[in-house]
Amino acid sequence: MRRFIRRFNEPNTSKVKKPRDLFSSKIGIIAAAAGSAVGLGNIWRFPYETGQYGGAAFLILYLAFILLLGLPVMLSEFMVGRKARHNVVGTFKKLSPGKHWYVIGIMGIGAAFFISAFYSVVAGWSFEYIINAVTGQFEGKSPEQLNQMFLDFKNASLRPIIYQLIFLVLTGYIVASGVRKGIERYAKVLMPVLIILIIILDIRAVTLPGAGEGLKFLFKPDFSLINAEAVLSALGQAFFSLSLGMGALVTYGSYINKTDNLSSTAAEVTLADTLVAVLAGVAILPAVFAFGIEPSAGPGLVYITLPNVFEQMTGGQFFSILFFVLLLVAALTSSISILEVVVAYFVEELNLSRKNATIMAVALISVFGMLCSLSLNENAVAIHVFGMNFFELLEYIAANILLPLGGMLIAFYVGWILKKDQVYKELSNEHQVRVKFFGVFFFLVKYVAPFAILLVFLHGVGLLKLIVQGLGIWIN
Ligand code: TRP
Repeated sequence: MRRFIRRFNEPNTSKVKKPRDLFSSKIGIIAAAAGSAVGLGNIWRFPYETGQYGGAAFLILYLAFILLLGLPVMLSEFMVGRKARHNVVGTFKKLSPGKHWYVIGIMGIGAAFFISAFYSVVAGWSFEYIINAVTGQFEGKSPEQLNQMFLDFKNASLRPIIYQLIFLVLTGYIVASGVRKGIERYAKVLMPVLIILIIILDIRAVTLPGAGEGLKFLFKPDFSLINAEAVLSALGQAFFSLSLGMGALVTYGSYINKTDNLSSTAAEVTLADTLVAVLAGVAILPAVFAFGIEPSAGPGLVYITLPNVFEQMTGGQFFSILFFVLLLVAALTSSISILEVVVAYFVEELNLSRKNATIMAVALISVFGMLCSLSLNENAVAIHVFGMNFFELLEYIAANILLPLGGMLIAFYVGWILKKDQVYKELSNEHQVRVKFFGVFFFLVKYVAPFAILLVFLHGVGLLKLIVQGLGIWIN
């Protein structure tokens, strides 16, 4: 009954005839938003980026960016989304009619296509590994053989693409059936199971002979390894992992009840996401060292490393099946949130039915996605741009360019375009709840986030040097 009254009291600000589907409870939003945040970004990308950029120093930068930039941007995304109750593009059109701020939303839609394309490749790999786990393929294999197993699969002609398409269709199926039914139900149960499983893997990984090196790598910083690109990558990873910068959380924000507390939701989601990333790092990096794998091995790292750990565990087969199934589910709840950005846009701005919007989005992503998958296949024609294949290029553009710029613009928008008391009113549920750190939040969003992100970005892509040199010439 209470729930009914709450739903009933929701002001219906949307022009769409049917009332918008809302999350049914605070736990539901946390599960859905944490389901979006926790995914391949934590378990697949975080360990390999940390491996590539030298370990602990990267971790420290990453944590600082999460706290100082990620958390305020997350709260900003939830806030504008719930205030406007529209998709990413519609949100900015509604809050700033006649202005061009909706371009932030368009960028977000673009980023959603890019991310889905490479994300679905890696998520698809988990099908192959679930099958390998069930049929006991890891047993008795040496680290070299397990490495070869991954390479053979990656270079196979059809399987990676078929799995990728299955993953995309599954994502589409859940998105088409609606936000609440589709997303809340899965995320609520499976997230805690995932965390427990990773802790079990941690225990096995850190007690492997030779694991100490890996722990040192992960926790003893060597800042000499940090260059401009590493700093930008830490920022990109922070945004990627928290699902920020392309309006996924603006879209989810638009489904949050006016009575739910946004700041505590953002804090809890950030905490859960960071915890899973660090726990995954502890499960993977010590094992990388114990089995003599290169920490900078790149995107295959998790798929190459963990089978070695399972091979060394009592009950390894059971745990390996469970792990790859949960990896798939974690990827699915994230991928849903990316697709939802596009589908909500198609439905509200192009007036498509939810089903048709989903079919159209999935079809477009599949085309991009297959090219991504093929670009990793050594038997296919490889086109390289700036030394990167298509997969790496999309990943770089999305994580290191589009997400930071999107995050910067959203922070700028909240800090400089919206009025401070408007922001407070939305965050405090019209003065019903206290917003504990509002002063700190607003300071970070207005004065720190936009400029810090811009600096890191310009530095990372090498433009800062040019600008400083240019200014030098100009001043002289
Ligand atoms: N955060 C997810 C992960 O870590 C990926 C993801 C979901 C995402 N939604 C996003 C990344 C929006 C960027 C933007 O796997």
